[in-house]
Amino acid sequence: TYVVTDACIRCKYMDCVEVCPVDCFYEGENMLVINPSECIDCGVCEPECPAEAIFPDTENGLEKWLELNRTYSEQWPNITQKGDVPDDADSFKGVEGKEAEFSP
Ligand code: SF4
Ligand code: F3S
Repeated sequence: TYVVTDACIRCKYMDCVEVCPVDCFYEGENMLVINPSECIDCGVCEPECPAEAIFPDTENGLEKWLELNRTYSEQWPNITQKGDVPDDADSFKGVEGKEAEFSP
């Protein structure tokens, strides 16, 4: 599966949802997650993210984010179309330490 990481928080560009062939993104208040049970590992979302927030779970150190994606994809609503991007999204692109801003 692919995993959305903290780089998405408060950026939430949503370009990813437009390309996913199986519509497996789920929307929280300030980030999206992927449902690991539905993702078919096609990889097309990864280069679409302007915040470079999406990685394959084969990368080291993503266990925590994989679990977060699994947990919240079961609670948040599905999203298949890009909505309004936060006005200040660009100011959070590439910013470290956004994990503290996560909002379930
Ligand atoms: Fe969707 Fe493919 Fe990205 Fe998985 S890797 S979330 S199936 S676009
Ligand atoms: Fe987040 Fe990137 Fe998608 S910022 S909403 S993972 S395009």
